[in-house]
Amino acid sequence: PMGAAWALLAQPKYLSLLVLVFQNVSLVMMIRHSRTHHGSGSGAKEYVATTAVVTAEVTKIVINLVLEMWSNRTNLAEGFSNLRAELSHPSTLKLALPGLLYMVQNNMLFVALSNLSVPVYQVTSQGKVLATAICSRWLLQKIISVQQYGALVLLALGVAIAQLSSIDYNKHSAKTAGSEAKQNQLLGLGAVLIACFTSGFAGVYFEKILKHGRKVSLYIRNIQLASFGVILGLIPCALHDYDRIAEGGFFQGYDKWVWAVILNQALGGLLVSLVMKYADNILKGFATSVAIIVATKLSSILLGTSVNNMFILGAFFVITSILVFGKYPAKQNSQQPNYTAV
Ligand code: C5P
Repeated sequence: PMGAAWALLAQPKYLSLLVLVFQNVSLVMMIRHSRTHHGSGSGAKEYVATTAVVTAEVTKIVINLVLEMWSNRTNLAEGFSNLRAELSHPSTLKLALPGLLYMVQNNMLFVALSNLSVPVYQVTSQGKVLATAICSRWLLQKIISVQQYGALVLLALGVAIAQLSSIDYNKHSAKTAGSEAKQNQLLGLGAVLIACFTSGFAGVYFEKILKHGRKVSLYIRNIQLASFGVILGLIPCALHDYDRIAEGGFFQGYDKWVWAVILNQALGGLLVSLVMKYADNILKGFATSVAIIVATKLSSILLGTSVNNMFILGAFFVITSILVFGKYPAKQNSQQPNYTAV
């Protein structure tokens, strides 16, 4: 049985999902660390969030360009001329819509995390899983059984319960009392709501282009997507932060934490695209939910505390939902591809 498990993991589908789980765990831990150990009142200049989104997209272009040239064994000149040919193909324009939606979403992430605590953010962004399922049904004609819909609800509930168990209400109110005025819960929730739908739609739309469109390499598709991200991402910079950028520069306040977040976003985006290629957006939702559970357990180990019963119940829901989702695939329809998790 051990051998069978390794063979399963050697498949790109499961490998990419597993790596995504680890990347998400590290991201959650990093955000936590930066919030607890990275004093914001140090007098250092605050970075401009809208520029971080653009810088992350530029980083994605560089990473994907290197990977594209490496996978084709081309040199820089050849790589650029191939890229030019591909970028001028009309199908590039298809990426404008997901590019726009992801740009909106990546900005919403900063709005959400500036106005909501991490657990509240995690709980509310579970709406993504359901939005993704609905978009997969609608754009990709994926058949999802009633039991599978139930499993997705159970998944979201499980994460919500496990996360809510980690909110310490007393500590929370004491700690945030000073900055309460700066936080706007309703604005944060609105940002999450927008992000759920843009994530669901843009992800599935990208998957559709990748799997059903012209055969173009994943790295090229990523470069096309990120290019729209850069161009469109400059709009919120200009509209929202023109004065600050003009005064303090584009890269003001970029310390090692900001660069770490940017790099994490760029590599995370690459991973997401690999998961969309080898697995799909719904399984991606499972991977990120598992990551939240693992990260919560890990931080309790690191802090030397124990998890409570609510966490255990939540984790149980998540595991059950994975098993149910894999066990009850929709009935095969000759017109449409069958859809199974495991
Ligand atoms: O929240 P969600 O999981 O939908 O976020 C997906 C992230 O992956 C976005 O930040 C998006 O910019 C990124 N992405 C990417 N390249 C792709 C698809 C998504 O960088 N091909």
